Amino acid sequence: MLTTRFCETFGVEHPIAQGGMQWVGRAELVAAVAEAGALGFLTALTQPTPEALDAEIRRCREMTDKPFGVNLTILPSITPPPYDEYRRVIIESGVGVVETAGSNPAEHIPEFHRAGVKVLHKCTSVRHAVKAEEVGADAVSIDGFECAGHPGEDDVPGLVLIPAAARRLSIPMIASGGFADGRGLAAALALGADGVNMGSRFLCTVESPVHRRVKERIVAGTEKDTELIFRSLRNTARVASNTVSRKVVEILDGGGAFPDVRELVAGARGRKVFEEGDLEAGIWSVGLAQGLIDDIPTVREAVDRIVAEAEDLVSRRLPALAGGVRGDAAPPA
Ligand SMILES: Cc1cc2nc3c(=O)[nH]c(=O)nc-3n(C[C@H](O)[C@H](O)[C@H](O)COP(=O)(O)O)c2cc1C
Repeated sequence: MLTTRFCETFGVEHPIAQGGMQWVGRAELVAAVAEAGALGFLTALTQPTPEALDAEIRRCREMTDKPFGVNLTILPSITPPPYDEYRRVIIESGVGVVETAGSNPAEHIPEFHRAGVKVLHKCTSVRHAVKAEEVGADAVSIDGFECAGHPGEDDVPGLVLIPAAARRLSIPMIASGGFADGRGLAAALALGADGVNMGSRFLCTVESPVHRRVKERIVAGTEKDTELIFRSLRNTARVASNTVSRKVVEILDGGGAFPDVRELVAGARGRKVFEEGDLEAGIWSVGLAQGLIDDIPTVREAVDRIVAEAEDLVSRRLPALAGGVRGDAAPPA
């Protein structure tokens, strides 16, 4: 057992979270993560309305009586979703934890806290993590440059970002971006984190509600098969490399503006990738961790394996090295 402050704060067995994933963070996956002893998040905006989110939370609760949370991603938008309504549903549903992401959670924290909902804020810089602690977040999750989705604009990988954040924070912090195995979990703990948050690894599991071809592409893909799109717009996103994402990079690198790529990056196209398995239909998020993923396990198999491997490293291999018994414990295959 690896028990950290993260486990104690959120009442879960393992120091592992499954971050919100648009079109993916549905009840099937989140309940499986909860049943495996980790902390899963339904993705609020995957549901078309706050009422639909309410129904999804109920559906998840029918599948598990273990704790799970809801991700609320707050991004600037011309026609923003009714965030306050989504927040009300989260509170009234009795879910005990929310993962906020995308912008400063200050506006939402007091109401969550009044209702006893804990806030795990996900961000991409030390500065924003410190701010989140100041405004009352219960824990933070920090996405390094390796991550799927939005890594921010600072390009600092986890190897530096995580210890830099650990030095400045007193609330629990989990490392995110590039974690997919037990070595990553052990490394995160060594760097000062209280656990890991994973997206890509959970995306490629049996219970992940996406087309099998997406999972097979992740298994076939390497750490080199992603693109960073929207760099010039300062809204960088790491997505799978395909004809669409490469075209988007080409247009924007050539001086294009958002309207020139709007149609290519439409959410409906990305959704088609996940639902129909048409890998060239649009853009879809995946991180560098793709290079560490070479199977499609059940969520429980993935979590058990990661924890066992990390425990072995922490309790056997590393102490053996410290004791000078080199070679006594082989590294995991
Ligand atoms: C398909 C997919 C969709 C995602 N959608 C969201 C989202 O809507 N909101 C969010 O906060 N993070 C989102 N993320 C980011 C993950 O929650 C997590 O921070 C990230 O995947 C960690 O990096 P990793 O993939 O290397 O584990 C998404 C990731 C993936 C793979």
